[in-house]
Amino acid sequence: MKSYDIAVIGGDGTGPEVVREAIKVLDAAAPRFGVKLNYTPYDFGGERYLRTGEVLPDSAIPELRKFPAILLGAIGHPDVKPGILEKGILLRMRFEMEQYINLRPVRLYDERFCPLKDKKPVDIDFVVVRENNEGLYTGSGGFVFKGTPHEIAVQESINTRRGVERCLRYAFECARQRRGGKPWKGLKSEDVASGKKAQLTLCGKTNVLTFAFDLWERAFHEIGAKDYPDIKRDYAHVDATTMWFVKNPEWFDVIVTDNLFGDIITDLGAMIQGGMGIAAGGNINPQGTSMFEPIGGSAPKYTNKNVINPLAAVCAGAMMMSFLGEAAMAAAIESAVIKIVREKLKTLAAGKMGYGTKEVGDLVAAAV
Ligand code: IPM
Ligand code: MN
Repeated sequence: MKSYDIAVIGGDGTGPEVVREAIKVLDAAAPRFGVKLNYTPYDFGGERYLRTGEVLPDSAIPELRKFPAILLGAIGHPDVKPGILEKGILLRMRFEMEQYINLRPVRLYDERFCPLKDKKPVDIDFVVVRENNEGLYTGSGGFVFKGTPHEIAVQESINTRRGVERCLRYAFECARQRRGGKPWKGLKSEDVASGKKAQLTLCGKTNVLTFAFDLWERAFHEIGAKDYPDIKRDYAHVDATTMWFVKNPEWFDVIVTDNLFGDIITDLGAMIQGGMGIAAGGNINPQGTSMFEPIGGSAPKYTNKNVINPLAAVCAGAMMMSFLGEAAMAAAIESAVIKIVREKLKTLAAGKMGYGTKEVGDLVAAAV
C-alpha cells in the first residue's frame, strides 16, 4: 500500500465543492491501485481573510512544503479587492514553492462540446507549458506620482536566463515524452499522442518585445539544437497563436510561453476543449511540492448551488496522481471522466450538465 499526504485547499466560491468531488473520485479509485491518500485541509482563502485579516500565515509555506502535492479549488472572493488574494495566496504559493511550470493540457474529450466546427478529439490534443514564476507576474515595477495627473505606472516583465531555461527544458522533455520517450514528471503517459510529430512551439512576441523574447528565442534554439535535436522547433507570435487555436488547433503538440501569454492562451485553450468545466492544470516544481487546480476560478455566483462542473477538479486530481507516479490510477480516472462526459452529460457548463455537481462526482466515482 502506497500512501501519500495531500494538502487540500478548497479556497473560495465553488472551490470547496469541486474539490470534494475530486476527493470522492480519488478515494473511489485509490484502493484498486493499492494507494491510500491522507488529506490535510487548509482554510486559506477569502473567508479566512475577511474573518482574520490575514491572507496567508507565515507558517503556511514551510508547512505546505512538507507535502508532495497540494489539491487546490479556487482563490478569488467577490468581497475582496482583486489582487489581494490572488497575489497573497495563489501567486505566493506558486513563487515561494518554486512551482516554475504551469502545465495545462488542452484535450477535447467529446466533439459535441467543441465550439469549433468540424474539430474532433484527435484535432485538439496539445499541452501548454506556461512559465509560472516570472514575466509580468513578479510584481516588479511601481507608481511614480500616484494619484496625480502625471502619474506613471510601470509593470516590468522579468525574464531570467535560469528561469527561461528551466522552463524550456521542461517543455522539450514534454515534447519528447509525448512521442514515447521517457516519462517526465508531471505528464501522463496518455499525453503521448500516438503518431503525432514531436514539436515544440515557442509562443512569444519577438516582433515587439525585442528584449524579453530575444532571450527566450536564443535560449530556445540553443537548448533545442544542443540537447533536443529530435524535437522540431517552431515559433508563433502570441496573437497568431490565438488565431491558430481556432483555425488549426491540430498543428500544436507542445507550446511553451511566458507567464502572461500562457495565462491568456490557456483560457482560449479551455474553451476549445469544452470550457472551464473541464480544464485542469498543474503548478509544477519537479523537485518539490506541486499544486494541482481546476483553472476556472471560484465562480462565486454558483457557490453551493450544486451546479458547478467538478470535472476540472477531478482531472486535476488525476494529474496529481500521475505526478506522484501513479500513472495507472491517473489513467483510470481520466478514462472514467471521458466515459461520463461522452455517455451522460448534456453539456459541460454549470447548471446545464443534466446532473448536479455531486451527481457528476458520483457517476465518475462509480465508473472508476
Ligand atoms: C490562472 C488565474 C490566475 C493567473 C489569477 C487568478 C492570478 O487566472 O491560474 O490562470 O493569472 O495565473
Ligand atoms: Mn488565468
